[in-house]
Amino acid sequence: MNQDPKIVVALDFNDADSVLRFIDPLHPSLCRLKVGKELFTAAGPQLVEKLIARGFEVFLDLKFHDIPNTVASACKVAADIGVWMVNVHALGGRKMMESTREALASYRQRPLLIAVTVLTSMDAGQLAEVGLPGDPGAIVGKLAKLTQDCGLDGVVCSAQEAVQLKALCGQGFKLVTPGIRPLDASLDDQSRVMTPSAAIQAGADYLVIGRPITRAADPVAVLQRIRDEIASA
Ligand code: C5P
Repeated sequence: MNQDPKIVVALDFNDADSVLRFIDPLHPSLCRLKVGKELFTAAGPQLVEKLIARGFEVFLDLKFHDIPNTVASACKVAADIGVWMVNVHALGGRKMMESTREALASYRQRPLLIAVTVLTSMDAGQLAEVGLPGDPGAIVGKLAKLTQDCGLDGVVCSAQEAVQLKALCGQGFKLVTPGIRPLDASLDDQSRVMTPSAAIQAGADYLVIGRPITRAADPVAVLQRIRDEIASA
């Protein structure tokens, strides 16, 4: 069985019971799990600990953005809980990212530390409004390079940016990509989507997929179909 699952299921639920019901038929060799702000606010670290105790690797998607000491300390707590991946905003700057990287260095099995560059909800107009004028793609590239320079492991990005970012930062720099839709799936509110196989071919290392799996009548079957598609990519 594949022990490095590429699929990270976004657990966009708002209570622990729904999550525990959803993961019951899943095996940790099939996928990893992502806990974001909504679920974490509702169910807290206790749920994350339960998921880890069941053998799942957890991406704690809290996108920390604060002063260096606060973010570094929060990421240490995440490491103590035992999460597999944690993230921060690159716009928190060099000192914040470097302090966090250093804070995690002493862990024997530290979480992967990745950054969000520019939220995909921000277009050129909104970026200019907050003092970041210019081409959003160029800003993403600049922040990805800064992230790499600070010693982080990778970035969250759109699969459409994967080819550019692998060329810029190298193959070892991890790319975590949401906005993934199998050909037969509903787009929901995503607009610029890619299929799982196209995203892997473009250089994505991990695919964050939510509703196509969490809202499926048979989540295990959908997961297995996507895994087969990735394997033949
Ligand atoms: O259900 P769906 O597959 O659209 O879920 C995608 C997940 O990835 C959600 O948790 C969403 O918040 C997250 N995400 C995203 N786009 C980004 C960053 C995160 O869709 N740019």
